[in-house]
Amino acid sequence: MKLTDQEKAMLDGQHGEPTRMFMSMLVTLGEIYDASHLLPVQSAHASGLSVRTLGEAGTRWAEDLAADGARVRVPTSMNVIGIDRTRDLGFGAEWNERQLRIMKAYERMGCYVTSSCVPYYQGFLPRFGEHIAWGESSAVVFTNSVLGARNNREGGPSTLASAVTGRTPCFGLHLAENRRGTLVCKVETPLEDISDFGALGAFAAARVGTGIPVFDGLPQPQLEKLVSLGASLASSGSVAMYHMVGVTPEAPSLEAALGGNQAETFVFGRKELTEYKEKMSSNQNREVDFVALGCPHCSINQLAEIARLLEGKKVSGKVRLWVQTNVSVRGLAQQLGCVDAIEKAGGIVTQDLCVVLSRPEDLGFKSLATNSAKMAFYAPGSNKIPAWYGNVERCLEAAITGFWPGV
Ligand code: F3S
Repeated sequence: MKLTDQEKAMLDGQHGEPTRMFMSMLVTLGEIYDASHLLPVQSAHASGLSVRTLGEAGTRWAEDLAADGARVRVPTSMNVIGIDRTRDLGFGAEWNERQLRIMKAYERMGCYVTSSCVPYYQGFLPRFGEHIAWGESSAVVFTNSVLGARNNREGGPSTLASAVTGRTPCFGLHLAENRRGTLVCKVETPLEDISDFGALGAFAAARVGTGIPVFDGLPQPQLEKLVSLGASLASSGSVAMYHMVGVTPEAPSLEAALGGNQAETFVFGRKELTEYKEKMSSNQNREVDFVALGCPHCSINQLAEIARLLEGKKVSGKVRLWVQTNVSVRGLAQQLGCVDAIEKAGGIVTQDLCVVLSRPEDLGFKSLATNSAKMAFYAPGSNKIPAWYGNVERCLEAAITGFWPGV
């Protein structure tokens, strides 16, 4: 692989041991994927920061790197963690303490403690054509598909390697020829809310493999719906990018999105929408004791909507309602009165937290309701909690009555 003089100096250890180790990691990765050279990245989003992901060995690894002088060279935001820094959710002192150690190690390396899977709601906004090294699968899809930045599906160590060296190997979605659509999904039914978009994502993921679906026939959807679609594609499949005609900067038309590729077409109609929404519910128990919204983390619009829907209502004493967001959006929501409104109704608005990466199963929850395709996909396996899947209104009705509503 061709390296610049500065990259060679990093590889020779002239910028310290952590930089040498990370440069060596990226060069090896580049060789595996036949990259001809490294690319400078404009930003990184460090992922894999939860206790569940890193364990004690990974925690020590991060602490040692920070102590040995590893420092980021490009703006680096941080992904979600398994706690809310501002309150004790009952996961235990050891868990909380270890999570704080991880957070502090990354902070010491110069990362911003944003603790969110939606850093783009916090002002981290890559531009069209920028090369970046972001982890967190839902954020990867968003940057490629909505913003038109160039980003591979990175893992935790490679995001940190890119943050510290300011480089990433040139392969995969950094190259224009790998960004063409491979399957067409014609949407022939109106999609109302984010759970409908999550169902569309699961439908396309089941057909596209590691390819790039092109969605055609949708009017300009609201931002949160695009986020939900991407999160579903990334979790129920291994998708890192989609095209939406008229939305993705590289997809002004269906032809442009396909770039000459011959692609099979699938239709997503009313029947498929109903079928997938049912399929994504793994719960049989209509009694619900846990309602979790905000996966990916809620935007200000979503918090305002939840606050409005809860006006004059009370969450059942048998149910916990957790609404997840990040420190920035929560701060704004607090100013606007949305946090008070949700908490007055009996819910809580958490920051930093990813429920899936925490340990809700240890709190005794048995039956979940969510409007998140990603959580509906992961919670039954990772947290051993079966989930009902539906729109925000149904989830809040479950929170108030303690029962998942019938059709
Ligand atoms: Fe974010 Fe965790 Fe959901 S990373 S997308 S809150 S599973």
